[in-house]
Amino acid sequence: MIKVEHLVKEFGEVKAVDDISFEVAAGEIFAFLGPNGAGKTTSIKMLTTLLKPTGGTITIDGLDPVVKPLEVRQRFGIVFQDPSLDQELTAFENMELHGVLYHVPRKIRRERIEMLLKLFELWDRRDSFVREFSGGMKRRLEIARGLLHTPKILFLDEPTLGLDPQSRKQLWTHVKYLNETEGVTVFLTTHYMDEAERVANRVAVIDHGKIVALGSPDELKKQTNSESLEEAFLALTGSSIRDEKADSAAQMREIAKMWSRK
Ligand SMILES: Nc1ncnc2c1ncn2[C@@H]1O[C@H](COP(=O)(O)OP(=O)(O)OP(=O)(O)O)[C@@H](O)[C@H]1O
Ligand SMILES: [Mg+2]
Repeated sequence: MIKVEHLVKEFGEVKAVDDISFEVAAGEIFAFLGPNGAGKTTSIKMLTTLLKPTGGTITIDGLDPVVKPLEVRQRFGIVFQDPSLDQELTAFENMELHGVLYHVPRKIRRERIEMLLKLFELWDRRDSFVREFSGGMKRRLEIARGLLHTPKILFLDEPTLGLDPQSRKQLWTHVKYLNETEGVTVFLTTHYMDEAERVANRVAVIDHGKIVALGSPDELKKQTNSESLEEAFLALTGSSIRDEKADSAAQMREIAKMWSRK
């Protein structure tokens, strides 16, 4: 369903994605795991037509997103790392708007909105404004909306960020249910390794723009002699912090040192 070969994305000097290749089969749940700044969101943006690759090729359901962006967009749903709901519309209106934009015929649209809002336990709140929703409710609504046009692939960039353990668990139960009943392929990123271990069939670990490991959670644990995927992840990516603020603090210290030497 997804095929990526030698994909590269450069932002000036920064190589955000550095020659990655992988495939995701139809119906698979695939997790992209990596420290902050590893290149996960950049990869998703290229897969979903939002960014043009610097090099390499992408095929989504047999189509190249650079050549056929509109056709490719019909085939996936996406939930961004940053929320993208309209706060001034109700839950129902947000769904309806999306359905119209994706040309979902009225009857099917109404049925599917009801099915999805019920599944994600938002049907009773369908006429409430999104601005009155809690973080968890907004996340559920975004995922419901991403599934409205019955996409073949669902991209989820850190969908469970900031959710309590109950909501996280429930959200994955629903996603898994749709994966099983509708066969939707799921491409997700998360920093919660326990989730990836439970939900994903296969994971790719990405660090500094490169894939450093690829396989089932069990395979990665075996490879690294680890008890859990979290342990495997740390073994593969090391334990230093990838915080740009930390980097700039280090730079400031360097500059201060240079000045004091003068
Ligand atoms: N539009 C942009 N312009 C310049 N640099 C960018 C841009 N988008 C991303 N980058 C850089 O590319 C690198 C990868 O960023 P990306 O957002 O893909 O990381 P990520 O793996 O999604 O991290 P996180 O877990 O923090 O969300 C970072 O160094 C980031 O600063
Ligand atoms: Mg990201």
